[in-house]
Amino acid sequence: MYKQEKKDWQILVVDDKKTNLMLAEKILQQEFNVSKAQSGMEAIAFLEKNIVDLILLDLHMPDMNGFEVMAAIRNNEKILSDIPIIFLTADDDKAMEVKSFKEGAQDFIAKPFVPEIMVQRVRRVIQLDKLQKNLQNEVEKQTRKAEEKKRQFQRLSIQVMQSLAGAIDAKDKYTKGHSQRVAMYAMEIAKRYGYDDEKQQNIYFAGILHDIGKIGISDEIINKTGKLTDEEYEIIKTHPVIGGEILSNISEIPNIAIGARWHHERYDGKGYPDGLKGKDIPELARIIGVADAYDAMTSKRSYRDVLSQEIVRGEIEKGIGTQFDPEFAKIMLEMIDEDKNYDMHEK
Ligand SMILES: [Fe+2]
Repeated sequence: MYKQEKKDWQILVVDDKKTNLMLAEKILQQEFNVSKAQSGMEAIAFLEKNIVDLILLDLHMPDMNGFEVMAAIRNNEKILSDIPIIFLTADDDKAMEVKSFKEGAQDFIAKPFVPEIMVQRVRRVIQLDKLQKNLQNEVEKQTRKAEEKKRQFQRLSIQVMQSLAGAIDAKDKYTKGHSQRVAMYAMEIAKRYGYDDEKQQNIYFAGILHDIGKIGISDEIINKTGKLTDEEYEIIKTHPVIGGEILSNISEIPNIAIGARWHHERYDGKGYPDGLKGKDIPELARIIGVADAYDAMTSKRSYRDVLSQEIVRGEIEKGIGTQFDPEFAKIMLEMIDEDKNYDMHEK
């Protein structure tokens, strides 16, 4: 198998002395395809048009020396930047040997050439280089594949959730886009609070599905235009529990059920379904609670239009420490104050 590959390997030998070029060619041509260049300029011109697997480069040449040629090759955009280079020089040149490794040469071959050593070194450097590049390619390929799969899965998750949110909102003719907006506001609060992208995304997911329990409430009650009876109100109040149960099956997204179950809790403990108080309410639900209340006030209802920004701001402020977690309510106020044209509402 190697024999086949070796025949295809292209070597460029660069040396100012014709006798050295001839000798190197004679030694190497049994196993490799050999091209020759008698100066750095000639080598560069050749490499701009041809791809080689390895360069044997004489260190001591007039005009450009080996180091200069190597630098010119590495900086030339028309030439692959990672062709392995082996330097050729007199065997007493220890300082040069050290320098050549420092500059990034793969190996060093001393003159006069010992045919066996030369062939072995060239073969070994090429094999190592191919192995390394194959490995690198394979790693890159697998990484790209895994990343694409991950992105695909994320896109799918987001699409499924958005569709679900659409289904929830479609049930209620007055809450079009509610889930999506609550998710966006909740994510913005989380971002301003300093949470990283992953956490923000989890909050977005929890936000987009916070009202999923409404699926279990009859359309008549949800869409009733008049005042709800006590009994109807009690039924509406079951949606967080239903939602929490539905989402408890999604174990891959941590805490997704939390927003659904506790987004109607109040900071003063007067909310539902569990009457949790203060920091006992999971943080995620405290964030969604603020976002949810904000969107409710800034959405149209059957009996009223979007409330004015001033009124909404006042209500959020009034709710600090009673309905809302003070910290997240303050972030919401900050968002309102930055929203000079009052763009942040149902359109
Ligand atoms: Fe709700």
